[in-house]
Amino acid sequence: MENTEAKKRIFSGVQPSGNLTIGNYLGAIKNWTTLQDDYECLYCVVDQHAITVRQTPADLRRRTYEIMAIYIACGLDPVKNIMYVQSHVPAHVQLSWVLNCYTMFGELSRMTQFKDKSAKNADNINAGLFTYPTLMASDILLYQTDLVPVGEDQRQHIELTRDIANRFNSVYGETFRVPEPYITKGAKIYSLAEPAKKMSKSDENVNAYVSILDKKDDIIRKFKRAVTDSDTCVCRAEGKDGINNLMTIYSCFTGKSDEEIEREFAGKGYGDFKAAVGEVCAESLDPIRSEFDRLMKDKAYLEGIFKENSEKASYLARKTLSKVYRKVGFVQI
Ligand code: TYM
Repeated sequence: MENTEAKKRIFSGVQPSGNLTIGNYLGAIKNWTTLQDDYECLYCVVDQHAITVRQTPADLRRRTYEIMAIYIACGLDPVKNIMYVQSHVPAHVQLSWVLNCYTMFGELSRMTQFKDKSAKNADNINAGLFTYPTLMASDILLYQTDLVPVGEDQRQHIELTRDIANRFNSVYGETFRVPEPYITKGAKIYSLAEPAKKMSKSDENVNAYVSILDKKDDIIRKFKRAVTDSDTCVCRAEGKDGINNLMTIYSCFTGKSDEEIEREFAGKGYGDFKAAVGEVCAESLDPIRSEFDRLMKDKAYLEGIFKENSEKASYLARKTLSKVYRKVGFVQI
């Protein structure tokens, strides 16, 4: 299946379900900005995924605007890329119904995110939480996507997407392009409080994560309090989860290698290193926060982007959806 455009296509998305962290930034959004010149990119605010866990409606609405503002503030160009909101393009859920019928109960039962989220939301293990990965597969397959830039935690969902695409193609002939994951160095940023655990925007402990919109003083304080070990050497090694994580964060923000970082902090203590990580993080996020504040005052501008881009996305999505409907045997009128 060739995309008609010369450039390869990228699809990725973020759920508007909490304050975006530097995990979301370094694992996903920052990489998207480097890909936007060489690929045809769709970047989605996946609001329909967010309601698999209970959301306060007003918060969900506000966060949907916020994520779009963050995308733009981080440097994504809403003219060059198709940046839109999932619920504005009905083809996502339309395709997901079809794909649900080509996804096995056993496959969905094995998804680690489903197991984690079911454990955290024991009173609300709804069907949407279970079939979440087929909606994600629809997001990706609808656009004949080549590459999916995500953090490590999404790898299993992309593997499943590939399996679903291959299964459908083997029954009906080439219909979907089979996408590849694109996973880089910042793909797993860990909690500052419990460095064996992923940094998460839904963590109850605000000191465990740094939000993209945190103020400088808070960022510096959170890094200062970051849990490390009783050693003193700033170097990457097994068992030094906290320091390893801080080295990854420092490296993602500065572009420095582990060797360069080890040389820079040779003979210095953890205190100096933590202060340096805090500084470089705050410095990188400061312009994003100012631009975010400016954009959030201009709702009409953001709504213009929602509208224009959802039309572009819908146009592409309809092509795949009608092909799928034809192949499975739905009558077209
Ligand atoms: P979400 O909203 O949880 O996270 C958005 C992106 O951020 C990455 N990420 C991290 N990367 C590194 N370290 C971390 N601690 C960290 N936490 C989050 C995630 O891997 C993701 O790339 N299911 C997806 C959203 C989605 C999607 C899609 C993504 C829906 N449809 C289609 C790609 C393609 C999710 O829950 O991401």
